Amino acid sequence: MRIYKHYNKKSFMTLFNGDCAKLFTEIPDEYIDLIITSPPYCMKKSYEDPKADIETFKKLHKKILGDIYRVLKPGGSICWQIGYHVTNACITPLDYLVYEIFTENNDKLKQPLILRNRIIWTFGHGLNSTQRFSGRHEMILWFTKGEKYDFNLDCVRVPQKYPGKRYYKGEHKGELSGNPQGKNPSDVWDIPNVKANHIEKTEHPCQFPVAIPQRLIRALTNPDGIILDPFMGSGSSALAAFVENRRFIGAEIQQNYYNLTVKRIENAIRGNIKIREDVPAMTPNTNTAVAKLPEEFRIVRECKNEES
Ligand SMILES: C[S@@+](CC[C@H](N)C(=O)[O-])C[C@H]1O[C@@H](n2cnc3c(N)ncnc32)[C@H](O)[C@@H]1O
Repeated sequence: MRIYKHYNKKSFMTLFNGDCAKLFTEIPDEYIDLIITSPPYCMKKSYEDPKADIETFKKLHKKILGDIYRVLKPGGSICWQIGYHVTNACITPLDYLVYEIFTENNDKLKQPLILRNRIIWTFGHGLNSTQRFSGRHEMILWFTKGEKYDFNLDCVRVPQKYPGKRYYKGEHKGELSGNPQGKNPSDVWDIPNVKANHIEKTEHPCQFPVAIPQRLIRALTNPDGIILDPFMGSGSSALAAFVENRRFIGAEIQQNYYNLTVKRIENAIRGNIKIREDVPAMTPNTNTAVAKLPEEFRIVRECKNEES
């Protein structure tokens, strides 16, 4: 029996140790609500082929685009977290390349990939440069498949800067001038990156904080949604999906990082959830996982091994 038979379970997590290209072959068409990932930047990290360069990056994206599009539901979202490629002190913003590749075929598609936001993720720490300004941001490209999509703004509102501020004149004089439920978090997100003393830090060299996928999951999916991360690394998106009570499918090619993901999820199932809270959301999440963990929740570790 193939893995997708599991996909009808009310809640589950499929963690695949292998190439995402192989996992894609197991996922039915139009099955996924949200794809969140941060792919390899081809920067000679421990998990990358030392010969990988910017052309490798482009080839990888061209290779997987067809499957990304195929498995995504109409109205579903793609959130591609990406930074810069650096060669000989020359920087290339990778989101430009991703945008070009992802939208290249739009004129041939009934449901084109439409860019909704280019979110700037800023963080306070990183390498200090002496020959240019130190890099303190990366990007998240949010695309939707087609015109219609969900955006649950009320689930991700953040406190107003001046919560009690009121109109001082006009027909609304005396009323609150901002939405009492909080404001739109905007397209600039200041969230600490995962450095050595961060509670979420694992051995993975390039984690993103759980708060990023968590905010995207809340805004762009409903509680029965299915999230996919084809390059899951240490499983930050998996943990975010777990906390937000969503189903999750992910691939990681390196055994050691895959093991990290499994460990993080197993710890979370036991109630040991190590995450750094996002800015306090105005609407508290009453849907967090542990209390509501369904009986049938389990981890499927391998693509073809139904009972593991
Ligand atoms: C930038 S990291 C992702 C980090 C992740 N967002 C986190 O928070 O831990 C990219 C990951 O993709 C994995 N990877 C690279 N090529 C892959 C492939 N073809 N299939 C699955 N995983 C792959 C790498 O081993 C690496 O762990």
